[in-house]
Amino acid sequence: MPGTRHFLTLLDFSPRELQQLIERGIEMKRAHRAGQDQRAFPGSVLAMIFSKSSTRTRVSFEAGIAHLGGHAMFLSPHDTQLGRGEPIEDSARVISSMVDIIVIRTFGHDIAQRFAANSSVPVVNALTDDYHPCQLLADMQTWFEHRGSIAGKSVCWVGDGNNMCQSYINAARQFDFELRIACPPGFEPNSELLKANRERVRIEHDPSVAASGADLLVTDVWASMGQEEEQLERARLFKPYQVNSELMSLAASDALYMHCLPAHRGEEISAQLMDAPDTVIWDEAENRLHAQKALVEALLLSNR
Ligand code: CP
Ligand code: NVA
Repeated sequence: MPGTRHFLTLLDFSPRELQQLIERGIEMKRAHRAGQDQRAFPGSVLAMIFSKSSTRTRVSFEAGIAHLGGHAMFLSPHDTQLGRGEPIEDSARVISSMVDIIVIRTFGHDIAQRFAANSSVPVVNALTDDYHPCQLLADMQTWFEHRGSIAGKSVCWVGDGNNMCQSYINAARQFDFELRIACPPGFEPNSELLKANRERVRIEHDPSVAASGADLLVTDVWASMGQEEEQLERARLFKPYQVNSELMSLAASDALYMHCLPAHRGEEISAQLMDAPDTVIWDEAENRLHAQKALVEALLLSNR
């Protein structure tokens, strides 16, 4: 509906708004840890539509709205009419007439877009085949907490040119960093997106060249949800694209590495890095909660 704000990609918020969200996420994390009452939205209802599995996204949104004094409703296609073919547009119209905010995890990005276009309340992309912007809020918050501003830094993406990689391309634009993408030939991100961001983003098929001097290395699973049948073939093709201590040794001496999780130890990331005592990966996962609380707060306020 015209005028309703959504968060389908990082481009839906300005760089300044994104920075404010990160700062607010940090503030809310501190308040939560100090045991402060954060119930500013009593009675607010969050509908959560998940057509794919989730641990972090589901738990963080559900816990987050409880902290804010609201209520979460988990809707899977198996037991709603969405799974029986009720049009997305009709579902959006009906669900949004009863709740205050909606998160949706689905396959085609166009499904989230069509849902949002017909929703009278804010819609948040909780992952589509093309983008996972909520994860980027947590990643940027984690970087900011450990290293300060990411502007002007070099980030190296290692692995598939998938939804996370494409969200990093948007992040490069919105947070003003350089992104080198090390992916096997044939697994590049969307070419239009690359073209639109060519001043900040480049493909470098050789991971050791891409990682050289980088401030942050990021990876993700080689086969995303919906690509399970490609898992074996991808495992073979992606073998040289593991984030491990050897690759980290080529990066800047204080470089961090991130992974949105769930991870496959020994595939896209070594067990040693996953289990390193100083890894920020667990902060990154926890920050889903804090960053998304800031997001939900901003969106609920935008629709009052
Ligand atoms: N990183 C992430 O979105 O995890 P889940 O699939 O567990 O939600
Ligand atoms: N690229 C992965 C991210 C999971 C959080 C997927 O889409 O399955």
